Amino acid sequence: MLKSRRIILGVCGGIAAYKSAELIRLFKKAGAEVQVMMTADAARFVTPLTLGTLSEREVLSEIFPEHADGSWTRHIELGLWADVFVIAPATAQTIAKLAHGFSDSMLTATALAARCGVLVFPAMDHDMYVHPATRTNLETLASYGYEVYETGYGELASGLVGQGRLLEPVEILGRVEKHLEERTATGPLAGKHLLVTAGPTREAIDPVRFISNHSTGTMGFELARSAARLGADVTLIAGPVNLETPDRVKRIDVVSADDMYREVLSRSDADVIVMAAAVSDFAPETTATEKVKKDGNTPGGLPLRRTADILRELGSNKRDGQVLVGFAMETENAEANAARKLSDKNLDLIVLNNLRDSGAGFGTGTNLVTLLFRDGRREQLPLADKKIVAAAIVDRLAGLAPA
Ligand code: CTP
Repeated sequence: MLKSRRIILGVCGGIAAYKSAELIRLFKKAGAEVQVMMTADAARFVTPLTLGTLSEREVLSEIFPEHADGSWTRHIELGLWADVFVIAPATAQTIAKLAHGFSDSMLTATALAARCGVLVFPAMDHDMYVHPATRTNLETLASYGYEVYETGYGELASGLVGQGRLLEPVEILGRVEKHLEERTATGPLAGKHLLVTAGPTREAIDPVRFISNHSTGTMGFELARSAARLGADVTLIAGPVNLETPDRVKRIDVVSADDMYREVLSRSDADVIVMAAAVSDFAPETTATEKVKKDGNTPGGLPLRRTADILRELGSNKRDGQVLVGFAMETENAEANAARKLSDKNLDLIVLNNLRDSGAGFGTGTNLVTLLFRDGRREQLPLADKKIVAAAIVDRLAGLAPA
């Protein structure tokens, strides 16, 4: 259940903070990616170096980065990135801040921004735990939809015996697994069949040469990954790319636009179809069965034919309630062209990559896109890692798909 899941672990300043080292080890061993966020006080109990080394990621603490590197919206990006936000140990102080919507640290700000489940594992002395202020704050957190877990009974740091011990790391692990299992079964895309295409296509000239494009397939693969995390039953139809299949995603490899056409059309009853592939618009009219030799052949025109427009065909046969999403890659009059494609192809959403923007498009780790919706809404997403952009697009898709 935890394989390649993305976990934010919030660590607060209490003696139980030392247990977070073991918790990170368990999460990592189960195959999860872990982003640690510590409050300033947590660093008095356990060092960021320890937790950073175990998690293999920089530990975040301050909401304002020391060096302005353009990462002012990291709390928002990480709030979208995570599959689950685990706060362990959660101290009385941080619980109070969360209950009142404080955003004075990376931990509290990200909790406010998070779209995933927030799991709170309190740890404090018995009397602090049973104080009406703490009880009220915990009830408030539960009313926000946070999952608040019980504490263990036993010896406390004060020497007293009572309720207030942090659950053991292995127990926390079990609860996180259960939460993710339930979320996959009941997530916003649970029970929906989502078809995604990704990558380029190759149109053969002869057995060794082809026409293709620079698509790497990254956006499509990230969309498939994000949708599977929200519970969708995902089929990914991929052109020739060099990427690993995301977990819980069924992958079908194709080579040409004609292959992709066949595979997509045979699944055109999917609830949501996202055409992220850079399908070749043209293919050689004929494919030579043997390699075309240069001797005796002077370079000349290569007769081409138009390939079938898959998205247009899907759009003209769209069934009620089905959601169709296209991508547009434009170099001029970007928004006008994308809006025209949205309406011509009968789409619900078009994702516009403007190739003139730096950081957008083929072969970059990041993407800068504008979303144009059927109802006229327009949303520009900030320049971000393709994983984050994909998570944001899937989040919007979940809003479009009928229940
Ligand atoms: N597409 C498709 N089948 C094709 C070509 C494109 O389904 N044969 C899909 C792409 O996956 C993308 C969308 O159509 O989601 C837009 O593709 P694009 O090539 O930008 O637009 P076109 O409408 O083909 O127009 P043009 O090439 O003139 O910009």
